[in-house]
Amino acid sequence: MTISTVGIIGAGTMGNGIAQACAVSGINVVMVDISDAAVQKGVATVAGSLDRLIKKEKITEADKSAALARIKTSTSYDDLKAAQIVIEAATENYELKLKILKQVDALVAPEVIIASNTSSISITKLAAATSRADRFIGMHFFNPVPMMALVEIIRGLQTSDATHDAVKQLSERLGKSPITVKNAPGFVVNRILVPMINEAFFVLAEGLATPEDIDAGMKLGCNQPIGPLALADMIGLDVCLAVMDVYLAEFGDSKYRACPLLREMVAAGRLGRKTGQGVYSY
Ligand SMILES: NC(=O)c1ccc[n+]([C@@H]2O[C@H](COP(=O)([O-])OP(=O)(O)OC[C@H]3O[C@@H](n4cnc5c(N)ncnc54)[C@H](O)[C@@H]3O)[C@@H](O)[C@H]2O)c1
Repeated sequence: MTISTVGIIGAGTMGNGIAQACAVSGINVVMVDISDAAVQKGVATVAGSLDRLIKKEKITEADKSAALARIKTSTSYDDLKAAQIVIEAATENYELKLKILKQVDALVAPEVIIASNTSSISITKLAAATSRADRFIGMHFFNPVPMMALVEIIRGLQTSDATHDAVKQLSERLGKSPITVKNAPGFVVNRILVPMINEAFFVLAEGLATPEDIDAGMKLGCNQPIGPLALADMIGLDVCLAVMDVYLAEFGDSKYRACPLLREMVAAGRLGRKTGQGVYSY
């Protein structure tokens, strides 16, 4: 199957990043969100990101114009009919994703692959909600998408080899290095990463060190490029909390209990960079 157009649901942090990665790789994009304001914000983020690449002399003005011209935006799922694959990157909420996926499944042609960028929800479970479990797969991009090389490709129990191979090829066309993993809560990378971030909040809550020192410790002592608290601000504290809550529910193991401080900060609306305040101020 030749993929010339990718449909993306959600124009937020991940949706617009995936749109950019596709557009700069010469692939057409239809990016759908619930409001004009949301899609316009998504495109503005892509434009800003491409401007930074121009400044760094990685792309030209002409590359930017060509990439932006490949991104069509819409607030109607009908426009997803133009795509050979639809990547769902909407808010991390099971009921919401179920509703979206059922709608899209009923709309797009049977051969179209549907992928979800979920961080924590079972791909097998989402696949089962559609009429095409063999053409359903997890395509887990990392933030910021244009910079991060990894795509975790998650095979649900019923995902076919053909679907896996098509998505692996697409990931490579986007310049990414995919790894293939079996479906399980958190897959591989976040299964290890998010509990580590959660532990950093416990360390902060216990007053063992300042946020700056916690982050410096992990950077200098473990060669991590960014400290866990700064990373939480980048991912979004609400996303981190939702992921921990899924692990706790799915594994039934108290080692996945979310740190109360993390829960408190989410309740206060301190979600990280996207709200201007998280562990740090922006
Ligand atoms: N932020 C990360 O670091 C990260 C990394 C990997 C995967 N993810 C996953 O990617 C997905 C999106 O996360 P995000 O960080 O981009 O969230 P976000 O809040 O930045 O964006 C979500 C977007 O989805 C839109 N949306 C909500 N309901 C919709 C609907 N019915 N139809 C279309 N659009 C709808 C919202 O308006 C919003 O623009 C989540 O599943 C998340 O777990 C996030």
